[in-house]
Amino acid sequence: MKKCEKESLYSLFRTAVECIEGFRYSTAMPTFYDDVPLSNGTSVKETPSIEVGGSTFEQTTTSSDKKLYKSFEELKKDVLECKLCPLCKARKTVVFGEGPFETVGALEKPPVLVIGEGPGYDEDVQGRPFVGASGKLLDKMLKSIGLSRTENCFITNIVKCRPPENRNPAKDEIIACSHFLEEQIRLLSPKIILLLGTVALKSIFNTTLGISHLHGKVFYYHDEIPTIATYHPSALLRTESLKRPAWEDLKFFQSKLKGL
Ligand code: URA
Ligand code: SF4
Repeated sequence: MKKCEKESLYSLFRTAVECIEGFRYSTAMPTFYDDVPLSNGTSVKETPSIEVGGSTFEQTTTSSDKKLYKSFEELKKDVLECKLCPLCKARKTVVFGEGPFETVGALEKPPVLVIGEGPGYDEDVQGRPFVGASGKLLDKMLKSIGLSRTENCFITNIVKCRPPENRNPAKDEIIACSHFLEEQIRLLSPKIILLLGTVALKSIFNTTLGISHLHGKVFYYHDEIPTIATYHPSALLRTESLKRPAWEDLKFFQSKLKGL
């Protein structure tokens, strides 16, 4: 919170107390300061929020009280051994995610982060994200706007282990896994994020509205990183009519990235 916001709040409460008590305080206002960034780079702020059509949504996750990893490798090691939620029981592999580091050994961080929902059957078997039918479509979608997991995108999921029978991940599972995603985002510091589907959207931003209302709009992760949601490729495989709006979202995403 900013110094001036604290001063306004203090004045407001003091005036309210003065009205109730029927006399004015003569003490001076205490000195307030802007909240300062913590040494690890996470700033102390109010719950991040997004605004859409006049409504404000709180961002669901913050990372102020959890382990901060020094490197992607250190984070990956913990994720691959994780047993924090029941999804660890039936999984064959943990799907950390992949990008140019893994596929071609690039040293530079990719500018784009793509976030899906959770591994399916093929991903669980191979330990890689989006390698089944929806993954093939995702690769085509990304290619159409000049992106690929071998060059400029890191691809991951909200939960890193497969929910049995491909059900949606439960809220507790999403929360258990959320710190890993937050750390992936912090360490990658992507220029822009693409969210695939309602689960990804609602896991990152606390909204009751789903993808059909919020696709193609810009939100800001931690009030900083532009984030755009579109339909999940598996929804596009089921419903042909969603392909056109998804294509519009992708073109918009590309123009936004170009402008950064
Ligand atoms: N669907 C997802 O959301 N993620 C994957 O990795 C594969 C399918
Ligand atoms: Fe851990 Fe996430 Fe897998 Fe749950 S889904 S066991 S929190 S890595």
